[in-house]
Amino acid sequence: MAIRVSGSHMHDKVINDKIFKASAAAKAAIKKVGAEQVIDASIGVLLDEKENLVTLSTVEKIYRNLPMTEISDYAPIAGLPEYTKAVVDVALGDCKPDAYFSALATAGGTGAIHHAIWNYTDLGDSILTPDWYWGPYQIMAEAFVRKLETFTMLDEHKRFNIKGFAAKLAELQAKQTNVFVILNTPAHNPVGYSLDDDEWDGVLDIVKTAAKNKDKNFVIFVDMAYIAYVGDQHECRTFMKKFSGLPENVLIIIGFSMSKGYTIYGQRTGAMIGISSSREVIKEFESVNNYLCRATWSSINRSAMDLLTIIYKDKALTEQIEQERDGYYKMLRARSDAFIVDAKEANLEMMPYNAGFFMSVLAKDPDYACEKLCDDNVFAVPMIGGIRIAICGVPLKKVKGMATKMAKVVSLVR
Ligand SMILES: Cc1ncc(COP(=O)(O)O)c(C=O)c1O
Repeated sequence: MAIRVSGSHMHDKVINDKIFKASAAAKAAIKKVGAEQVIDASIGVLLDEKENLVTLSTVEKIYRNLPMTEISDYAPIAGLPEYTKAVVDVALGDCKPDAYFSALATAGGTGAIHHAIWNYTDLGDSILTPDWYWGPYQIMAEAFVRKLETFTMLDEHKRFNIKGFAAKLAELQAKQTNVFVILNTPAHNPVGYSLDDDEWDGVLDIVKTAAKNKDKNFVIFVDMAYIAYVGDQHECRTFMKKFSGLPENVLIIIGFSMSKGYTIYGQRTGAMIGISSSREVIKEFESVNNYLCRATWSSINRSAMDLLTIIYKDKALTEQIEQERDGYYKMLRARSDAFIVDAKEANLEMMPYNAGFFMSVLAKDPDYACEKLCDDNVFAVPMIGGIRIAICGVPLKKVKGMATKMAKVVSLVR
């Protein structure tokens, strides 16, 4: 038997990261046949049309001008107060619900998910999310001795599957005190789907009905890591108004990330915003999450918090950033539009894409299809029901022809 020194809860934990595997294969292919011949649709960072990492020039200017003391100093555990105040406005915009809310700084959006899972579920609980999901949800659930359970994301009309959601919610409610749901919207990873306001009404009706049982708590974590790239920044937030006047045993947590919106993935800065109709629930939110910050990373990157605060306070800088982002939003839109047209022509079945860094197509045997795609120098990531395409990294000229290559492999089975 292999020697194991880790604690029993960590035995046999190995990350099988298909994203980094596909990316490494793409890099090897570039070395072999040259970058022009390779389509790397594996990694979730925004690349420009020359396949260079996008960095927002306004962000760079501010960052490089920060005093060294701000870069070096510690920050308060819950984050710089000016930052957490700004985060509430930046994340919720003009769609703040009529409720109590509070924000804490976290190490990226990942940190927000980490805290929410640990603090709002019990050991052994199941966490609920649609069957197309970002892999780290499962990794975090399992690392914290929880499980991830899923429901089919879309119904027969390719709309959010309210019935499936309701059934699974009821199942979890029957066996645990806290029911914790992650909804990654707008601009879901890996599909690019966004729940519209009617779908949100459906979700909240189910949750409100379930919450009549006052012995149970319901936590909805809204992961909006990609919200900066969905176009109209008011329209994509109107659902947040619906978080007004929810029952006291329903807590909404918004996961906010600076990684994509400010293209500072490596600076690991984000936030979690608790929204509740109970002042006490928000007080507890502050207290337990502050505690867990201290227990996990102490405090986060001070200078990235400064950056957001500086932009927030200066209207001209805010507009500059918005304009820069809009250019990149249009770049993404041109790529995704081109892919959708080609996919239709090639009879390639897609998951419905609304916005964001990723699109997905259905495949019978996703691992095998991705292997076969490698023969054509196309590198994408197999998911449970299909293939994830990181359109954020594929220049428009390489999008052309990609759908045809995919159509050749999606029906193959090993
Ligand atoms: C769906 C989703 N949620 C959250 C995140 C968190 O990102 P970060 O921790 O860099 O803020 C990501 C990043 O890839 C993501 O794809």
